[in-house]
Amino acid sequence: MPEVTEPKPPVFAAQEITRVFRMGAVCVQALRGVSLALQEGEMVVLLGASGSGKSTLLNILGGLDHPTEGRVFFRQTELTRATDAALTKYRRDHVGFVFQFYNLVPSLTARENVALVTEIARNPITPETALDLVGLSARMDHFPAELSGGEQQRVAIARAIAKQPDVLLCDEPTGALDSATGIQVLEALCRVNAELGTATVLITHNAEIQRIAHRVIVLADGRVIRDEINAQRLAPAQVSW
Ligand SMILES: Nc1ncnc2c1ncn2[C@@H]1O[C@H](COP(=O)(O)OP(=O)(O)OP(=O)(O)O)[C@@H](O)[C@H]1O
Ligand SMILES: [Mg+2]
Repeated sequence: MPEVTEPKPPVFAAQEITRVFRMGAVCVQALRGVSLALQEGEMVVLLGASGSGKSTLLNILGGLDHPTEGRVFFRQTELTRATDAALTKYRRDHVGFVFQFYNLVPSLTARENVALVTEIARNPITPETALDLVGLSARMDHFPAELSGGEQQRVAIARAIAKQPDVLLCDEPTGALDSATGIQVLEALCRVNAELGTATVLITHNAEIQRIAHRVIVLADGRVIRDEINAQRLAPAQVSW
């Protein structure tokens, strides 16, 4: 009998989520009915103009914010039914975040910045392994001020992945970097995605970067206007902007 394999459930599923920010009499509709399914191991690039809702969506997937309506699942767990304590545990155990600004501790070396996480994580890789994955094995004992912007961002990526999160959520990780440095950061993200299988969502303003993705999602005015699998991916070094 042929073996029947169940299709794997998505790592994230969002159903018709909306997010309204109310400030006094003013209402901002940041998300207006977003549905999506992201698969295990996918590298997803999330594009859209400023104000289109990218960060709002990422924050909801990462358990930093709640949608106003709709449902969000991480695998079988419904985040929209989770208590704040459960969301904190979800973020701690499953999610790595990378932001535009690196938020490294200036008085600690690269290795020590990563160790801050590995010392408290349940199932970490070593700081050395994490820094090696992002191409920084030669710079482990340097302080942030002795590293370039791209190197500091790679330390931030090493810190985010050292606990072996299931998902890595990156909000404009190359936003402050020139193109050559940004490519090194993208290479580190692609390597982590390939070697650890970490499902990754990468927000960018830069449409060229979509070519490194498995899946591209474009938001406009709080709605998904495109959700497509790339037939062909490019390596970061083949992308230029
Ligand atoms: N905490 C908040 N309070 C009020 N309005 C908010 C808040 N966060 C986001 N918004 C509004 O929601 C809309 C979507 O914002 P969001 O930050 O998700 O956009 P974005 O696509 O990430 O933009 P950018 O590319 O500029 O980072 C914007 O109009 C924004 O002003
Ligand atoms: Mg944003």
